[in-house]
Amino acid sequence: MVAPHSPPAPATAGSGGRLAAVQEMARLQRLLFETEREFLRTATTLVYRVGEPELKYLLCQHLWESSGHARFLRERGREMSGFGSGESVRESLAQLFTEAVMPADGDVALAGFYRVLKPALLESYRHYLQATHHLADWPSRRLVEEFILDEERHAVEMEPFLAGIEAGAWIAHLQTALASHGGLLGERTHTPLPTDFGWQSAQRPYKHPTTCNRGKYPVCSSVFSQDPDETPIVRDWLADPKTDARVIRLMVYVWLMMELDAVDYLATVFYDTPHAPFDLHHDLARHLWDESRHSAFGYRQLPHLGVDLMTLEHSLELYNVLVQMAPHERYAMMTMEFEAGSFPTKALVMDRVRELNDFEADTLLAFDRNDEQNHVRYGHRWLPEIMALFGETRPVDDFVKATEARFAALTKTHGNLTPHSLPPDQRLTGNKLKKIAGVA
Ligand SMILES: [Fe+2]
Ligand SMILES: [Fe+2]
Repeated sequence: MVAPHSPPAPATAGSGGRLAAVQEMARLQRLLFETEREFLRTATTLVYRVGEPELKYLLCQHLWESSGHARFLRERGREMSGFGSGESVRESLAQLFTEAVMPADGDVALAGFYRVLKPALLESYRHYLQATHHLADWPSRRLVEEFILDEERHAVEMEPFLAGIEAGAWIAHLQTALASHGGLLGERTHTPLPTDFGWQSAQRPYKHPTTCNRGKYPVCSSVFSQDPDETPIVRDWLADPKTDARVIRLMVYVWLMMELDAVDYLATVFYDTPHAPFDLHHDLARHLWDESRHSAFGYRQLPHLGVDLMTLEHSLELYNVLVQMAPHERYAMMTMEFEAGSFPTKALVMDRVRELNDFEADTLLAFDRNDEQNHVRYGHRWLPEIMALFGETRPVDDFVKATEARFAALTKTHGNLTPHSLPPDQRLTGNKLKKIAGVA
């Protein structure tokens, strides 16, 4: 379903006069809603282009909060005359945010979003508070005050990751584009674009990189195999009742941490679906944040259990293959194949980990399972809609089967292409996990 493109209805002569004060504030809320939803569509392209896991996690958290802002703005806006019934984003805002994704360097793009567009959004929320009536529009004010606190915190949380990025020319370019728009709300003077200004987004389309960025960390194709001297997760060991539960716990934390691949490939879907209903992007944003939390479960716990994260190679194969596929195919593989198929093994693993009386591990795994059940529900809810966005008319089951076959074929050409960064003696493997767990 394509989001309806109906602009706010023009006010009739009488009602326009009577409700003018409401309509003016609804107009600003509409712009804020479109800005937050457009931030979600475009800043998701940062996730797989920056390398530091902590930064990926933080971006996913901010994106989820932006999605919440957009949803509250839509709910409140619809209470007000003049917000409009559709959810589409006006071309001038889309152009600005589409421009922001263009730098080839992910760090430069990050600086553009967080040094230009996020500060402009904060300024817009402050403008709203000043422009509205504190008592008449109290319901909106409560929301906007909360969003200002979030935006101020986002700026503080991102600051350490922006230090040292050389992006002066790009920041000036985006500021020029923003000034021609008169700020996000159009409340400032519109400075015409200089004659030599060129929109990069008009010159070339944005393309997802063929592989995702993992910064300083070693990489490989997959962390799963049957060989305990090859990879940290040994498939047979997961289901083998003779495997020590401490080894199972380490393997499942590696598994959770590697959900970072889901973070990276799911993040590619937003930009590719500009006409998705907002609720689809909202649920995808929740899905994205959940996967980043699952990855953080492993990232935080493994060092406590004695694993040096610099010995753990990150698996890139799923991103590398899925980015060759269409967005609805990526989403189908994720929800209907990988997630729906993971429950039986994870159930076995959870039962084994419970032998250790490790309350924290049990809690993390319980929340992971609960989240994953929701992700499969999202898949059933949204896959037909995302298929429709791409003109896919086959029954869902037929489409999923065909997509699995295409994934298998593409894996032959695009899979298994990332060699181990580390030689076997330096790399975390199943046998090393046994040693770390103190199992002979
Ligand atoms: Fe997950
Ligand atoms: Fe999931």
